[in-house]
Amino acid sequence: MNYREFYLQLVDPQNPVRFLPDGRDLTAPHPDYPDILMERRAAAALRALLARLDAFDKIIPVSGFRSQAEQQAIWDETMSSHGPDYTKSYVAIPGCSEHQTGLAIDLAANRPDIDFICPDLPYDGVYGEFRRLAPEYGFILRYPRGKEHITQISEEPWHFRYIGTPHAQIITENGLVLEEYMQEEEQNAS
Ligand code: DAL
Ligand code: ZN
Repeated sequence: MNYREFYLQLVDPQNPVRFLPDGRDLTAPHPDYPDILMERRAAAALRALLARLDAFDKIIPVSGFRSQAEQQAIWDETMSSHGPDYTKSYVAIPGCSEHQTGLAIDLAANRPDIDFICPDLPYDGVYGEFRRLAPEYGFILRYPRGKEHITQISEEPWHFRYIGTPHAQIITENGLVLEEYMQEEEQNAS
């Protein structure tokens, strides 16, 4: 596995996780949440962005790296509490979640009663600044509105995926999702 293969890996229902992070490479992006982990480079980028915005007390991680067993447990619990339509909208099939790569993070405003599956990350103030700067730090909003037919996941304003630069900026500036970007990359390579 090379750098490109790992950080640019496309994970969706047709593309199961191919490259797992080395356990030694998992680290906490937010010092107050030591159990929420990301791959080292992704964690460092998120930490740097939160530090730049002085937002450690405003934007908090809700879910980072998940093992296959954890993704399965989330799927099973959501199925029994919310049923199949909701679950398929907001929870990736076990084996096909970006969270299993260590490159995805769900973020929330630091307020009471955070919803674990659909946390609230607003668009105004510091949250808007975070969104504006995220691509510069290698993050894309992975499940935007209007692309549900491609991503096969409902809009998720809280789920950010690290892919590195300049890819994140190109994707964001062109209004693409990772599926479209990777298809273009493949065409350019052939
Ligand atoms: N919520 C995203 C789709 C996941 O479960 O990976
Ligand atoms: Zn997520």
